[in-house]
Formats: sequence, structure tokens, C-alpha cells
Amino acid sequence: MSEERKTIYLCLAHMSDEGFEQKYVQEAFDTNWVVPMGPNVTAFEEDLRKFVTGNVESAVYQDSRCPEATSAAWNLNPALKDTKVVCLSAGTAAVHLALLACGVGPGDEVCVQSFTFCASSHPITYLGATPVFIDSEAETWNMDPELLEKAILDRKEKTGKYPKAIVPVALYGMPYKIDEIMAIANKYGIPVVEDAAEGMGSRFNGQVLGTFGKFGVLSFNGNKMITTSGGGALICQNAEDANTIMWYATQARDAYPYYEHTAIGYNYRMSNVCAGIGRGQMTVLNDHIAHHKHVQELYKELFKDVPGITLHEQPADPRYDANFWLCAATIGPEIRIKGQENAYKEVIKTAVGGAAGVIKAVDSATTDCQPNENVEALRVFMLSKKVECRPVWKPMHKQPVYKNNPAYINGVSESLFKIGFCLPAGPYVSDDDVKYIVDCIKEAIVK
Ligand SMILES: Cc1ncc(COP(=O)(O)O)c(C=O)c1O
Repeated sequence: MSEERKTIYLCLAHMSDEGFEQKYVQEAFDTNWVVPMGPNVTAFEEDLRKFVTGNVESAVYQDSRCPEATSAAWNLNPALKDTKVVCLSAGTAAVHLALLACGVGPGDEVCVQSFTFCASSHPITYLGATPVFIDSEAETWNMDPELLEKAILDRKEKTGKYPKAIVPVALYGMPYKIDEIMAIANKYGIPVVEDAAEGMGSRFNGQVLGTFGKFGVLSFNGNKMITTSGGGALICQNAEDANTIMWYATQARDAYPYYEHTAIGYNYRMSNVCAGIGRGQMTVLNDHIAHHKHVQELYKELFKDVPGITLHEQPADPRYDANFWLCAATIGPEIRIKGQENAYKEVIKTAVGGAAGVIKAVDSATTDCQPNENVEALRVFMLSKKVECRPVWKPMHKQPVYKNNPAYINGVSESLFKIGFCLPAGPYVSDDDVKYIVDCIKEAIVK
């Protein structure tokens, strides 16, 4: 009897075969470092620093089965010699503190990519500032540099001030047009906070994303390239910035023998227990990146003969080196999917993103900006085949909560939202799974 097929999720946490994560977590207990600081946090920060500052050729964690041997393989990119990494409780916290350290405060504006997860823009509002949404260009699906410059000039004209920061996002791991974005940022003297939460290990011209701007955000949420169950980190250009971030992340205490505060701080440091997971995960990071790229290649091969489905690929320019955190594709509006007549007919009780947290009940099945019916029908069809398939992020400028925010729009992200979907890509996705997923999509298409 054939075994029942397990659900294929978008990207699941995957531990090292050797159990390095448990070893380091056990060490935290054995040494009673069960606090948001300690040897695992320090070592994880150092591992991350080596990873993000390593030359491609040096292949940090070359021998991923032997973490002790890794430093020997590390070869520093001299341009990044002062880089430091600070571990935090979440990627969202990293975005928040990066903006704070850029001086963002009440009344300021920040240019942020609209086509993203809400954690790129919400922290701007935590600081009392206003997100100014920038649409994407069609090639990478990320921040359009032309629109960015237009927005900067227009905001200056309208408000008398330049935006305080620029937040491009490596959507699904795809590098943004970093040369162009950095050139504009430098021209107007505006710091860049790279949101590389989804782009850990993606590179541009051999350099790891998150190391170009003033700050770079990483996430170790359960569904990311590596996980600490929940956690994040901020890549900083120098020790001074790292100190500022660490100060803000530990309630901003001044050096007195009692608690003295001259600024508002946060409780955002990473636990030494979680950092133990992170240290173990560093031994599989390169394997994970290689696997995600392999899965993307397989989709590319298998989608060749599926009319109407277009895989999102990186630009032909060899400087682009995406991690393909999730594989994304689009489906032509002319393609009909089985069950499409029932799309959006029922109010659903759950929300995309799974079981985490509480979902606010709604009484309508539709909104005024949603994926096409064939995308929704495909999601439902794939679910019946035990495959998780999700719409791409809904652009922030189309979110009700941001309906009054300034937005510089060219229609790209909204049209991609209508036709785009994400497919499983994580370490648990086997070659056989990819073949099965593509076969299911073929089966879903009405001939
Ligand atoms: C683009 C982007 N930015 C920021 C975050 C926030 O990371 P975290 O979930 O660790 O807070 C995420 C993911 O969750 C993300 O996808």
C-alpha cells in the first residue's frame, strides 16, 4: 500500500542531521546561560559576521559538517572589515532599531518598497513616522530606483524635507537593484536599511545582501533560510553602530550603578537558547541555499512546457545571485483552473500564514484588490493535493491600514499581486515533490 502523501509546505524549519542545534542549546542549559545574552549569542554573531563578510570564493562553512573547521575557510572581503552583527528577537525588531538608529522619528517619512511583507513598513509607524510606498520594477519585483528618486524629490518639494531612510526588500530572496538604489541614496545623503529578511545568503556581485546599506536586516523566523524558532539580526557597518543597536535592544541603560535612562529602549535581544539553535543552523545554511537554488532550477525545467505559467527568474546579469527563498510564478489571466467558478464564493475562517496567532474574522469573501480567480482556484486545488501554494504579498499601498499614505506607483506590484503565487522551496522539498507539484498544476489547468 502506498504511504499517504504528507503536506508539502512552502518552507519548513530543517535542523542539521548531526543535531548541532540541540548540542548548543544543551550547552546553554548546562552552563545556565538561559538569558538573552551569553556564549551562544556571541558565537552566533561571530558566525553571522563571517558569513556575511566572506568572499564567495572562500565558501564560508565550506565543510558544513564540521563547524569547528569553518573559520579556516573564511576569507574576509576587505571592504567589510568593520562589519558587526547584532542578534535580536525578530527581524521586525531589526527593522525597528535600524530605523531608530537612522534617526527616524515622529513627523519623518521613510521610502519603503510597497511589494513586501508588513514587517518592512510597520516599524516606520512604530516610530511615529510615515511610510512612503515605492512600487517595484518588473525585473526583480523590487524597489524601482526611478520611482524612488521621483519620490525623494517630490517629498522634498511637498514637505520641505528629504525622507529619513530608504528600505528596499529582497522579495523572495531576489536581490534589488542595489547599485542604482545606493547611488540615489548617496546622492541625497539618505541611509539605506536593506530588508534582507528573505534574502539571507543572496548576493549581488559576490557580496551578501544586507552589507551594502547602513544596516541590513536578517530574519530567523521558522520559515526562513535558517531559523532560531524566532529571531533576527542586524548587520551594522561598524562597532559604533552595533553598540548603539545593542544599547537600544537592552532598554537603553546608561552607565550608572542603578537604572538610568536618557532614551527609550526596547527588550529586543536574542535569547542564548535561541542563539544555540542559530549556531547549529549555520552548519546547514550553505546546504539550504544550494537546495533552494536547485529547486528553482527544477521548477524552471519542468515549467518549460506548461503554457500560461511563468516562473519568476533572476535577471540574466550574472551579478544577481538569489537564494530563491520561495519560488514564485505567475499565471496568465486566460488560463482556467478547475473549480474557478467557486473562487471567493465563501468567507474563509482561516488566514494565509497558517496557525500562528489569532485571525480577525471578516464577513466578506472579497476585497477590492485581490488575486485573480484562477490564482485563488489554484491555491484551493493545490491544497486538495496537499501542496501549500500562496498568493504573493499584497502591496502595502493597497492595504486598508495604509490607504492614506503617499505612494509612488507604476502598477507593477498590483498587477503581479493579481497573477502571482508562491510555491514550496524549502529543504524538505524533494525532486519528487517538485515533479508532483508541477504535475498537480498541470492537472489543475482546464484544457
Ligand atoms: C520582508 C520581511 N521583512 C521582515 C520580516 C520580519 O521578520 P520576523 O518575522 O523575524 O520578525 C519578514 C518575515 O517575517 C519579511 O518577510
